[in-house]
Amino acid sequence: MSERKLQVVTGGTSGMGLATAKALGVYGPVLIGGRNEKRLNDAMAELKEAGVEAYGMQCDVSSPDSLKAFVDYALTIAPIGNVVNAAGVDYADMPKEPIIKINMLGTHYVLEAFLPYLDDSYVVNFSSITGNFYPGPSAEEKELWDSTQTVSEAEFVERQLKLTAQPNDPRMLALGESYTTYAMSKRYVQYYTQANAMRVAMKNGSRIISIAPGSFYTPMLAGGNNEAMQASIKRGTVYQRFGTSEEMADLIVHLLALGHGYLTGVDIIHDGGKTALSFAKQMM
Ligand SMILES: NC(=O)c1ccc[n+]([C@@H]2O[C@H](COP(=O)([O-])OP(=O)(O)OC[C@H]3O[C@@H](n4cnc5c(N)ncnc54)[C@H](OP(=O)(O)O)[C@@H]3O)[C@@H](O)[C@H]2O)c1
Repeated sequence: MSERKLQVVTGGTSGMGLATAKALGVYGPVLIGGRNEKRLNDAMAELKEAGVEAYGMQCDVSSPDSLKAFVDYALTIAPIGNVVNAAGVDYADMPKEPIIKINMLGTHYVLEAFLPYLDDSYVVNFSSITGNFYPGPSAEEKELWDSTQTVSEAEFVERQLKLTAQPNDPRMLALGESYTTYAMSKRYVQYYTQANAMRVAMKNGSRIISIAPGSFYTPMLAGGNNEAMQASIKRGTVYQRFGTSEEMADLIVHLLALGHGYLTGVDIIHDGGKTALSFAKQMM
């Protein structure tokens, strides 16, 4: 990782994004963004306390205008290094439209905003193992997702809402439409990451990957699950516990710091063995 280039972390004001920003601070200046002003100020104080050369700005990844201002600010600090897009919302108590706008279109808008400035950079998106459990994309989903760059935001949202109401596997709906939308949104992040491997590589050999967290104990996960659900989530992992934000940050920083030049267009599962337990009978 080039010293003094700017490490950008959207969603860097909380959870795994904040831990990643702190860990990246060893390599140079870090810019974090998020919508909530208080959360941003608290995160800035935490980063500065940890000795990070931290910069912060309110930004909303579902708004291209907000991202333009964010990128303009970034360019005043230092040349762009890596971009970690940890901004995202969960399905608990969340209407479907913001999930589509933030998790899906936000992923696209962040890449569009930073693409011109990538230079031997990594773009890291956050998917979820929920995306791996989603049985898609179907032909209709692919058709819409392949046209992300060309359809209007209103059309994308309208068509995605229809797809969400009739998922590829109707059994998904037993888990609720918000959950289905979230699962689809994270499957989209994986697909979009694959679909942009070539385009990103054309920016001086840059790379794009997504990371699929299992269950990491962050404000997002802590907020939406009661004690019984949390106990059940833990039992679903090899280590019988949640991952920590620091463990996620360690993985990302190892990937970025060592510079793995052949690694792009893939989704990396980091889930304490949840996928292994779900898909394979364990040999004892
Ligand atoms: N925790 C898990 O177990 C888990 C599992 C699978 C996937 N993930 C994914 O991992 C990523 C990080 O999650 P986390 O658990 O660290 O969550 P978190 O602690 O809730 O942090 C989410 C961050 O995203 C920001 N954010 C949300 N909407 C935004 C928007 N429109 N524009 C800019 N920033 C926005 C939040 O700040 P503001 O709200 O102030 O904007 C916050 O900084 C998310 O994409 C999440 O879906 C998490």
